[in-house]
Amino acid sequence: MLEGDRVVLRPIQERDRERLYELVETIEVRALSTHDPPLPLSLEEIEARDRRWLEERHADSAWFAIDVDEETIGMCGLHSIDHFQQRAEIGIRLGRAYWGKGYGQDAVRTLLDYGFRHLNLARISLRVLADDERAVGAYRRAGFVEEGRLRAHAWYDGARHDELVMSVLRDDWKPA
Ligand SMILES: CC(C)(COP(=O)(O)OP(=O)(O)OC[C@H]1O[C@@H](n2cnc3c(N)ncnc32)[C@H](O)[C@@H]1OP(=O)(O)O)[C@@H](O)C(=O)NCCC(=O)NCCS
Repeated sequence: MLEGDRVVLRPIQERDRERLYELVETIEVRALSTHDPPLPLSLEEIEARDRRWLEERHADSAWFAIDVDEETIGMCGLHSIDHFQQRAEIGIRLGRAYWGKGYGQDAVRTLLDYGFRHLNLARISLRVLADDERAVGAYRRAGFVEEGRLRAHAWYDGARHDELVMSVLRDDWKPA
């Protein structure tokens, strides 16, 4: 368990699947947080995918459920972890009802601390829609800086959008 100021990050359990499915597999949250086409995705498909992942023992990602006051509000994690290059990428999805309350930046700060302190990473990065002010705001508040702009890189909600590449280096990071 990883403790932030207000959030707790903990391993995802089988019993969390349905709640997480309802919170973060909506077309709105999926469109903002993945590049995949929003095809229908059943709970059974997600469970089968996760079982395959567990069996293959993926060591290049670390996903957590996010709890606030013992209520699950979403999930987040590090993926594409490369221990030789000491870098990883961050992903986060909160249910719609929990946006804009400071939980995202708290979860991201907690993940950064985990990545730098416990996984010995030196660089953590992400890509985000440039005009998603909430997400960019949360990442800035957690310590991310903009390092590049990928022009018209993503199709989202009927149009092409720029994406920002943002990162935090361990050497620059100041834990709260
Ligand atoms: C992106 C996400 C994780 C951010 O978490 P969050 O809890 O909503 O964000 P926070 O409340 O921690 O921080 C948002 C910051 O942006 C600022 N902000 C700027 N424009 C904003 C806007 N239009 N709406 C809300 N906040 C805005 C807020 O003021 C806040 O900064 P502050 O603490 O200085 O006031 C969450 O909204 C989410 O899961 N969204 C859907 C999926 C997604 O977009 N994932 C990320 C893909 S890269």
